[in-house]
Amino acid sequence: MTSELQPGHSLADAFSRTAEHYDLLVSISPGYHAQLRASAAELAARLPQSLSGASVVLDLGCGTGASTRALLESLRSRGDGDLEVYGVDSSAGMIEQARSKRWPESVHFECADALDNLRERESGSVSAVFAAYLVRNVADLDELLAEIARVLVPGGPLVIHEYSVAGNRAAQLTWRTVCRAIIIPAAFATDRDVRLYRYLLRSVLDFDSVEHLRERMARAGLRGLTHRTVRGWQRGIVHTLAGVRA
Ligand SMILES: C[S@@+](CC[C@H](N)C(=O)[O-])C[C@H]1O[C@@H](n2cnc3c(N)ncnc32)[C@H](O)[C@@H]1O
Repeated sequence: MTSELQPGHSLADAFSRTAEHYDLLVSISPGYHAQLRASAAELAARLPQSLSGASVVLDLGCGTGASTRALLESLRSRGDGDLEVYGVDSSAGMIEQARSKRWPESVHFECADALDNLRERESGSVSAVFAAYLVRNVADLDELLAEIARVLVPGGPLVIHEYSVAGNRAAQLTWRTVCRAIIIPAAFATDRDVRLYRYLLRSVLDFDSVEHLRERMARAGLRGLTHRTVRGWQRGIVHTLAGVRA
């Protein structure tokens, strides 16, 4: 077995292979769900009072639905639990896991590439977009952000929850150490196939700095940009960036 994702083994297939164990793996990551809830709460707090007819919220890269659950809870706590929530993911296996859980009728899951899904939506037809651990995986990130800005209603928020360690040597060292000592061995114990988790290690090291990501969001037309990092060992590693469509 090779140690890296190879051409022909798409990322979607790699996520599908691990989908059955994904929830178990993230359950050993302290703070994973609480951090998603905190980012989702930022999205709910930024929802405009008047949604100008747009009543759809997107969870792009929804995976097995952990981020969708966080999103739904934050919308409910704001009294917006009746908005239609669409979880979109390119991995059939991850979507199957998400669909196997209990959801209200307002929650839907679609197996599609995030960019393809956005391109099919009308301009200004989406109230808010959540993207948790997605954007690092998207080849044309500027195009993705431009499409998100296009589909958002004016004032509609985008919240990105993502790893970024570029320009922070302490964060890079912590990330390498945790991946090599905990995440990759845990993935081997459950899946016997660690290619996705080697990709995780490398893709985070190679991804944008927070500042670069923020610049991309500004170029796409997002305003009122904010950034914060989480508490705990992921401080300086996991970040929430938020902005609203001008
Ligand atoms: C690390 S998982 C995160 C899942 C979920 N958001 C969470 O917070 O638990 C990233 C997900 O993004 C999906 N993904 C990666 N690239 C994608 C793309 N271009 N379009 C849609 N989904 C994508 C993967 O299939 C995977 O399920």
